[in-house]
Amino acid sequence: MSFNLRRYKEIKKLIQKHERMFSASLPLVASENLTSYDVRKAVSSDMIHRYAEGPIGSRIYAGCKYMDEVEKMAVELAKELFHSEFADVRPISGLIANLSVYVALTSPGDTMVSLPVLYGGHISSAGEEESGSAWTVHGLKVESFVFDTERMNIDPDESIKKLRRMAREGNRPKLVTFGASLFLFPHPVKEMESAIHEIGSTIIYDAAHVAGLIAGGRFQDPMAEGVDLMTFSTHKTLFGPQGGAIVGKERYKEAISKGIFPGLTSNHHPNLVAGKALAFAELAEFGNKYASAVIDNAKSLASRLTELGEKVLAEGMGFTESHQLVMDVSMYGGGIAAEKLLESYNIFCNRQSIPGAHEPKAIRIGTSELTRLGMTKDDMYEVADIIHSALLKREKKRILSKIKGLRARHKDLEYTFLRAPAFTYSA
Ligand SMILES: Cc1ncc(COP(=O)(O)O)c(C=O)c1O
Repeated sequence: MSFNLRRYKEIKKLIQKHERMFSASLPLVASENLTSYDVRKAVSSDMIHRYAEGPIGSRIYAGCKYMDEVEKMAVELAKELFHSEFADVRPISGLIANLSVYVALTSPGDTMVSLPVLYGGHISSAGEEESGSAWTVHGLKVESFVFDTERMNIDPDESIKKLRRMAREGNRPKLVTFGASLFLFPHPVKEMESAIHEIGSTIIYDAAHVAGLIAGGRFQDPMAEGVDLMTFSTHKTLFGPQGGAIVGKERYKEAISKGIFPGLTSNHHPNLVAGKALAFAELAEFGNKYASAVIDNAKSLASRLTELGEKVLAEGMGFTESHQLVMDVSMYGGGIAAEKLLESYNIFCNRQSIPGAHEPKAIRIGTSELTRLGMTKDDMYEVADIIHSALLKREKKRILSKIKGLRARHKDLEYTFLRAPAFTYSA
């Protein structure tokens, strides 16, 4: 066997090992999910090889006839799911979707208001102090909303005062961006919309995390609440392939299209568009049931963990209204130590700062993926017991076998037209 063939086989084996590891794990990373068998097939179809630069109908490549049709359907479905006047499904990630908006609507030196990483915001909309992409890529000056750490949410009254003060002082933000990576409760869009529009700012809503819940009608409806544009990832609570999209009001359509191409992408990976289109169709059919189950599971997991003595944040507010819950793990050495300890038990989640604190003293847990595997409230009781036992460093063999048992009862993906096993790769 040649050296290169050996390496080739080794790579295939590693992919298989990865799938085996995940199939015997508790996947609780809040930004991840599973795609259905048909979505996976679409992503690895011939479209994976093709170029389709430019907007639908005026591509600068030949052979785009069917890719155009697929993209048109993806656009129609996205408009329907998010109640928007236009949709553009070409951004290749949530971060690229955000940057495309910045490039389309602002110039370097303009100001944007958003949530900093310190309060659960994402690096893409953070400023110079946090080396965020909005600053490093496009030179935006970024100011923070006023955040209420008690309520784990943006403070609408104080934030409106701040925005008006900025406008009076000649520092009117061009963009005001809602949305976050740590996103337990809907943001006060309704409460702030008219004040923001009054000072002449454009409202963006970054739904990277919650797009699937919005599509399922179980989170706030940003377009109905008055935002101008909404960006999102297509692979978190929205269970499509990794990618991004932008929806919004018609008057922004042309500018956004140029921000995407030639702004931030050349080819936009038509195979991913095919996967997005199928996932949108799945959400149109099963989204409401799925989103309801995801949120119920997050609440059940949080309350069972609390019964076991764990410290889940926002207890007084019912823990969460999304797919996420946050657990203070200071008593286990902090977020990094707890993440690593849980990883050694095949439990995957990630470290998290508690808003306002720089050290990651917490872990963030998401229920999107376990729900896609058909798990329900009763399973969440078992999941909580497993997490709690692992944090107490109880016997590893027993815990790993409990996880295997739970996974063996949930092999197939739910909320899809064609039920099939979640893991299919074979070396
Ligand atoms: C709020 C928010 N916006 C944008 C992104 C970037 O999304 P992507 O990973 O698809 O680039 C993330 C990713 O976690 C996020 O949480």
